[in-house]
Amino acid sequence: MKVTVIGAGTMGRGIAQVFAQAGNSVMLTDIYPKALEDAASNIRSSLERLSRKGEIKENIDIIMQRITSTQELSAGSDSDMFVEAVIEKVETKESLLGQISQIARRDAIIGTNTSSISINQLSSFVTYPERFIGIHFFNPVPVMKLVEIVKGERTPESLVRKTFEIVKALGKDPVISQDFPGFISNRVLMPMIREAILVLEEGIATKNDIDKTMKLGMNHPMGPLELADFIGLDVTLDIMEVLYHEYGDPRFKPPVTLRNLVNARKLGRKTNEGFYKY
Ligand code: 3HC
Repeated sequence: MKVTVIGAGTMGRGIAQVFAQAGNSVMLTDIYPKALEDAASNIRSSLERLSRKGEIKENIDIIMQRITSTQELSAGSDSDMFVEAVIEKVETKESLLGQISQIARRDAIIGTNTSSISINQLSSFVTYPERFIGIHFFNPVPVMKLVEIVKGERTPESLVRKTFEIVKALGKDPVISQDFPGFISNRVLMPMIREAILVLEEGIATKNDIDKTMKLGMNHPMGPLELADFIGLDVTLDIMEVLYHEYGDPRFKPPVTLRNLVNARKLGRKTNEGFYKY
């Protein structure tokens, strides 16, 4: 299969990697050459890590050769599948999905890795929306087994089944969600992160003890504050805003502390400071 991944950020590069690892030919596109360069070296080091552990047997150079980096989206016009993984801004996705619609074959699958924007809303930017579906990966993509497949009102059952098989062939374990804000994952995760921030704000416990509670008491690999830093506090805030706006329910209301950190550009690991310093 030939797959075009649009956006070479954290998620896009991981998605490109897992498709290439599974033997697919991948076109990785981004408007920024630096993002493409960083993606290539990041994918290589991730593959080296997996290879050292014996999780991949194939030669790394052969996997890397399956990935072509380009700034030209049109280079992927003969793709069987497109996966959009650009920033979570409706306007950006609108323009991009319009461009993909123009170049994609009529029978190509158009997927979005959105974590919070409505699939129904995004489908209105795609011509022939019956080829459009949500395919939500988790960070770090090469490690996390889960992919959420999100079905919009206009997504046919046949496309859900086909996407399910494609995801299984990547060695991932998919779940299927209807198109409701936050799908399954972020609907459940965001109230937990929010509650952890409120426990901190109310002075009930230190950040270390909050995280330790969830790690040692519930066997989570990361505590909620550490996880928010890992996801990115800006992304966490964006997702909470969408949930709060769409459901109008205070259990999704972004806490002031989260907003303050984002306003101060303390975005978590990527800026070396969030709830913690890195
Ligand atoms: N590529 C390849 N391998 C990687 C990797 C990568 N990018 N990142 C980590 N690994 C491997 C390591 O080699 C290591 O393997 P080993 O245990 O067999 O030696 C293993 O993963 C663990 O990595 P580390 O030892 O470096 O560090 P940790 O033990 O702390 O694990 C972690 C890191 C896998 C990120 C773990 O902490 C974890 O699972 N955290 C939770 C992640 C999570 O919840 N992600 C979902 C976020 S929500 C999301 O993405 C959705 C969005 O919509 C918000």
